[in-house]
Amino acid sequence: MDTSYAIPTDRFARCIAASKRMRWDVETDVIRGRRFDRANKFLPDGLTLAGQLYFLSPDEKIYFSQVQGRTYANMFGLVERFIGAKVLELSRDHWLGDQVALEALIRFGDEELKHQALFRRIEALTSEVMPPGYRFDWDPNQIAATVLSKSSWAVLALTLHIELFTQFHYRESIRDDADLSELFQDVFMFHWKEECQHATVDELEWRRLDAGTSAEARDMAVDELIELVGAVDGIVQAQAFADDDYFAPTCGRDLSAFEADMVRQTPLEAYRFQYILSGARHPHFARTLAELTTKAQLGRVHDALTSLGAERLLAAA
Ligand SMILES: [Fe+2]
Ligand SMILES: [Fe+2]
Repeated sequence: MDTSYAIPTDRFARCIAASKRMRWDVETDVIRGRRFDRANKFLPDGLTLAGQLYFLSPDEKIYFSQVQGRTYANMFGLVERFIGAKVLELSRDHWLGDQVALEALIRFGDEELKHQALFRRIEALTSEVMPPGYRFDWDPNQIAATVLSKSSWAVLALTLHIELFTQFHYRESIRDDADLSELFQDVFMFHWKEECQHATVDELEWRRLDAGTSAEARDMAVDELIELVGAVDGIVQAQAFADDDYFAPTCGRDLSAFEADMVRQTPLEAYRFQYILSGARHPHFARTLAELTTKAQLGRVHDALTSLGAERLLAAA
């Protein structure tokens, strides 16, 4: 255990300054009275993997991206329930300590409440223009209870990974895709602006907790992180098939058996990339995890991630 940890107040102060500068409002900055237009994609092909469904018409590909985009917004609304609760729980450690760190965490929690409201709004707006029958049956409180039963070390690792992949998706593929809905792009532009600070706070808090964690407790936390990744994969699998159950009968034509099989497998592959692998492979996440774990522990995480790919191959066989 490293007991010499000193809270980096200046870094928390920079997060607060950026948070004040970026601050936005759901209605007056993001929505601005707009509605979704079914003519535009919600997510780029690089995230949805629509490119491998060469037999879909341009309009069918747009619809495919809208189904995945709707789930994308709902997934953030889901995970932000446990992220917000964890951040407020951690703020307790600073109540009578570093007041700058405390303010950074409180702002973070407040922003995640606003983001959940934004994603609920997006679900309402998409349901106005999309066919009935879409399902996203996860209870955010139930998921949060499962996640929050694990150690804070594991929860912060999962959270950092999520908040980094949000930024990666926006910067690398959502921001510059001219085919996307402007409203959908704006939602993720504004979200990205506040997530940058969140990822910094996640890392600082993860390192603070790590410094007070024994080798034995850390070893258990690594297993909990692997369990959490498995839980995310369980959600991803079920939602991918739920989204196919929605897309296939509402895409406007009967798909051949070959097409139907391809369409069914693609969201699972896309979601595993979106929600697990793009975060796990993010250089900043990978570096931080490597710094905080032994080679053997890191190997266990990598094996768990590799098995996701293996399952995919088995499912396709
Ligand atoms: Fe968020
Ligand atoms: Fe966040």
